[in-house]
Amino acid sequence: MSSWWRDAVIYQVYIRSFADGNGDGVGDVAGLRSRLPYLAALGVDALWLNPWYASPQVDAGYDVSDYRRLDPLFGTLEDAKALIADAHAHGLRLILDIVPNHTSDQHPWFQEALTAAPGSPARSRYHFRPGRGVDGSEPPTDWPSIFGGPAWTRTVEADGKPGDWFLHLFAPEQPDLNWTNPEVRAEFESILRFWLDLGVDGFRIDVAHGLTKDPAFPDVASTSTGMLDGVAADHPYFDRDETLAIYEGWRRVADSYEGERVFVAEAWVADASRVARYLTPTRLHTAFNFGLLSCPWDATALRTEIEATLGVLAAVGAPATWVLSNHDVLRHATRYGRAQTSLADARRLYGTPVDHALGERRARAAMQLINALPGGTYVYQGEELGLPEVEDLPPEAWQDPSRHHGGHDGPVRDGCRVPLPWSGDAAPFGFSPAGATAAPWLPQPAEWKNRTAAAEEQDPHSTLSHYRALLRIRREWLRRGLGDGTPLEWLAAPSGVLAFRRGEVLYYANLSEAPVALPAGYRVLIGSEAVEGAVLGVDVAVWLVAE
Ligand code: NOJ
Repeated sequence: MSSWWRDAVIYQVYIRSFADGNGDGVGDVAGLRSRLPYLAALGVDALWLNPWYASPQVDAGYDVSDYRRLDPLFGTLEDAKALIADAHAHGLRLILDIVPNHTSDQHPWFQEALTAAPGSPARSRYHFRPGRGVDGSEPPTDWPSIFGGPAWTRTVEADGKPGDWFLHLFAPEQPDLNWTNPEVRAEFESILRFWLDLGVDGFRIDVAHGLTKDPAFPDVASTSTGMLDGVAADHPYFDRDETLAIYEGWRRVADSYEGERVFVAEAWVADASRVARYLTPTRLHTAFNFGLLSCPWDATALRTEIEATLGVLAAVGAPATWVLSNHDVLRHATRYGRAQTSLADARRLYGTPVDHALGERRARAAMQLINALPGGTYVYQGEELGLPEVEDLPPEAWQDPSRHHGGHDGPVRDGCRVPLPWSGDAAPFGFSPAGATAAPWLPQPAEWKNRTAAAEEQDPHSTLSHYRALLRIRREWLRRGLGDGTPLEWLAAPSGVLAFRRGEVLYYANLSEAPVALPAGYRVLIGSEAVEGAVLGVDVAVWLVAE
């Protein structure tokens, strides 16, 4: 029997934009609990929740001030316990987001460090260092923050004079922890236990390739602030060997619990072979595979990425995961709606005309493709509705901390975080209850009236109906040609067509510019669009079995 996490479909709940239970315009645990039947009916296996901990919300909860409490925006610890029980009752596992690279500047540890003396134990939980130059007025290294600007901010000492600098790879309100300090290690293992004791099924590890830094603090001499572009070996703060040992400790903690409690690493590293280092049997279970998410909608590029991933992960016995969108990147229904379709193109072409119908058609084919591959898949909330990126949010609505510094490897990330449309003809589209006291925290486009879950449920040809049917069939055929296990064998196909067999099931995705013939003697299990005769249209994917 294969382990659940080896081929789970995991739904990413961006909690502040999922469903608002108390009418303050921000999603919360009460809203999520009320929508669990929708998620169970969708057919996903698990939920990953973005951070819900106490936080000043400078970076949408990725700045945690108390890892053992919920932010009142989202609910209470009692709500969390009720959610865990309800999710399990609906057959859904629950994965939390752990943020170990940095805390909030409002975390008691950092507040203590600010008032403590240079060189004190309180400061050694973070990276405080003297500046360079005669008066220490230059940052200790040339490291850039991923949100723009330098990765160091200078403190003011008790006597009012400028003092040491502290490191923050992200916003200044997110100081980096010092993972050579045993107290930091012990604290995080204790936080993991706190939530595992409450019954959560695992953790997504934020910036899993960060954590340890080169103790020599060398300059990096890079003009890129990019976390998303992958990093080379021997980097001073990403993908360092010492980080791997931390996860061996975490794995021992998870394995000491009943059931299979798992980790998924957010590791933006150079390539699949670097990802595999995190995924040995004594380290983490899975990692997001960002290869396809960065790829253009192009058969050769996709196949190259799929082969590289499967080859490298098989060597360490880890399953692949397949991801097309998340809360940090432009939604793929928009990426695929332009002539150039990679993630880098999407950033460059932000705000230029998009063919939404084309983007959604390709997004459905892509969803069908990834759910045919060996391993597990992720769906970012709203992807099942075919939601596009909202590229015309008014700048005064932007909340992404990178807006202060010129962007996060590109445009602000708010356009993929707009609250979900559930029902009705006008905002808040059922996101907030009737009589809500505040508008949704980001404005929803008026045209989303055609994209609500309620509207798509009524339409047998909607993206939602397609995705539900797809997951139902995936479950029926799990480990008999779908999910984990059955090897993938590429089939000969015309240029621009991805074709492979897994056991009894054949898969075709037509990314070429002309319709192609399907093999005789097979019937369509499901198509991303209606399939007429034995012809596969452009930007359509099908699953086939023998007649
Ligand atoms: C990655 C998260 O996905 C992103 O949203 C966040 O801003 C950074 N890590 C910093 O925690």
